[in-house]
Amino acid sequence: MLFSSPYNRPRGYDYAEEFADPDDMYTENDVHRALLENNYDVRLLGIHNDLGTFFEEIREDRPDVIFNLMEVFDGKSHLEKNIAALLEMVGIPFTGSSSDTLHLCNNKELNRKLFRFHRIKIPYFQAFHRHHKVWLPRKMSLPCIVKPLAEEASRGISQASIVDSEEAFVDRVRFIHEKMQQDAIGEEFIDGRELYVTVMGHKKLTVFPPREMRFGELPEDARIATYKAKWDDQYRAKWGIKSVHVGKLPAGAEQEIAEVCKRAYRALNARSYLRFDIRLNSAGQVYIIEPNANPCIARVDEVALSAEKAGVAFSRLIRKIVQLAVK
Ligand SMILES: Nc1ncnc2c1ncn2[C@@H]1O[C@H](COP(=O)(O)OP(=O)(O)O)[C@@H](O)[C@H]1O
Ligand SMILES: [Mg+2]
Repeated sequence: MLFSSPYNRPRGYDYAEEFADPDDMYTENDVHRALLENNYDVRLLGIHNDLGTFFEEIREDRPDVIFNLMEVFDGKSHLEKNIAALLEMVGIPFTGSSSDTLHLCNNKELNRKLFRFHRIKIPYFQAFHRHHKVWLPRKMSLPCIVKPLAEEASRGISQASIVDSEEAFVDRVRFIHEKMQQDAIGEEFIDGRELYVTVMGHKKLTVFPPREMRFGELPEDARIATYKAKWDDQYRAKWGIKSVHVGKLPAGAEQEIAEVCKRAYRALNARSYLRFDIRLNSAGQVYIIEPNANPCIARVDEVALSAEKAGVAFSRLIRKIVQLAVK
């Protein structure tokens, strides 16, 4: 099991303390325990920014398969795809997405271009790279949303991301360029219910029952999954924000959602598991907001909760992920 560690640790380091802390490496802890429940022979390797231990490990104790939980290398999320590329180079099967799929999913401009080609519904968008002109496109209706082009976990997404004037639009793009040192993307704002849909498999695909983000008492025009709405427990409690199993859907919506997500999954050439952030508007149209490769996979996360709802217990989910990698 390979995972991101905040420090470089020697091979064989005992992570018991870190894993036992519910605020620390709880995902690693959950997956590790599930692997053991499945009777796999597991070794742990955490990496910060030194690949030396990785090469030693595969030279001296080459694993049959790597459970890849690495989300950052040297604290940088855009290097997630490079880790997968490295695993492809050493030729050991690994779980989750390939470097190609990670690259496509983590770049909001690339995946939207791909989806448009496949006629999968996405918000109207325009990317703004650093050191280039910034303008409000004529076709962009207001309010719209401005996001970093290649971020995760709602980093850089707050209420100020929703803009309703040309001035605010340009300001927010510049903020992302200058303060976050990132390229930006402006998008049409899709008003509707926010659902999280997990798709799993290779060729024969399974779509697990959606989860839904409930925005509680947040005002109508502020209903997005900002960084705080996702990660700040106090803020969530204050506004009554929570994610739940999806409530009643309009007739035909569930099937439509499954079809759209499967098409998007195939377009991305995924072969393991992805979580789609989607929006369902009042006309029943399904928009893909974002594909997530190697999404959060702790017991408390959407993927595991969706699978559980479908009768796939956590340890079985983890075994399926390993089996897909081997296959
Ligand atoms: N085009 C959009 N229309 C409406 N809401 C959006 C749109 N894009 C993003 N959001 C809101 O912002 C949240 C984070 O955006 P997302 O693209 O998923 O970024 P991240 O990669 O950080 O998760 C979404 O979960 C959603 O609530
Ligand atoms: Mg998202």
